[in-house]
Amino acid sequence: MKIFIANWKMQLSPEESVRTARRFARVFRDYKGRALLCPDFLSLAAVSKILAKSNLSLGSQDLSAFDRGAYTGEISPLDLRSLGVEYSLIGHSERRSYLQESDKLLAAKIKMALSHKIIPVLCVGENALERKQGRAMTVIKNQLKGALQSFSIADLRSLIIAYEPVWSIGTGLSCDRDKALRVKATINEWCQRGGFKKVPVLYGGSVKPDNALSFLGSDGFDGLLVGGAGLDPESFRKIADLN
Ligand code: PGA
Repeated sequence: MKIFIANWKMQLSPEESVRTARRFARVFRDYKGRALLCPDFLSLAAVSKILAKSNLSLGSQDLSAFDRGAYTGEISPLDLRSLGVEYSLIGHSERRSYLQESDKLLAAKIKMALSHKIIPVLCVGENALERKQGRAMTVIKNQLKGALQSFSIADLRSLIIAYEPVWSIGTGLSCDRDKALRVKATINEWCQRGGFKKVPVLYGGSVKPDNALSFLGSDGFDGLLVGGAGLDPESFRKIADLN
């Protein structure tokens, strides 16, 4: 079954998140697939209540690398889990670039997610310059190595990887299917070589209802990570129906 994730980023106020989550719950009333919403932290508790009786799961956009203690401003995975969070994005490119999140920090966050039974969705992807210089595959392999090398095969049983070319996020420029699938093959190969056999690989970057299908299919990606089109329940339902 494919996986569909709507990442709301910091686009909505808590009131708007509640209204939007209610609309999603209605639109997904008869949904049978695997789809989740990632609201911002301030909206998580309220959205969690709305989704509790729905067919949608709950994800967070990030989590702390610590679970309790003197870590000002951090959000504990313990508390996320108790709010019903089942998944967490880790290493989204916006956090890597604006907040300088390092591979070492991402590895610590993955460890924390796993120890609190939250499924980590590790985001990787090259920026425009790296692609232009022909370094996309090297950059992605380094990101995988940096975040995952310290884990055992058993540790990473629940891991999901999302390939999101940075130049494609929020730009309307989705990646060409063949190029994206070449990256997926590289990620699959890297995982297999490490013994991580069945890691689902999602695509993200300007996914819309009219281009989503091109990334899916039996030889395509295992799901999609959606930003802009994931704010609208009807658009996201169209995408999530391509199961
Ligand atoms: P986008 O965002 O669909 O708006 O390009 C994707 C993402 O950042 O996860």
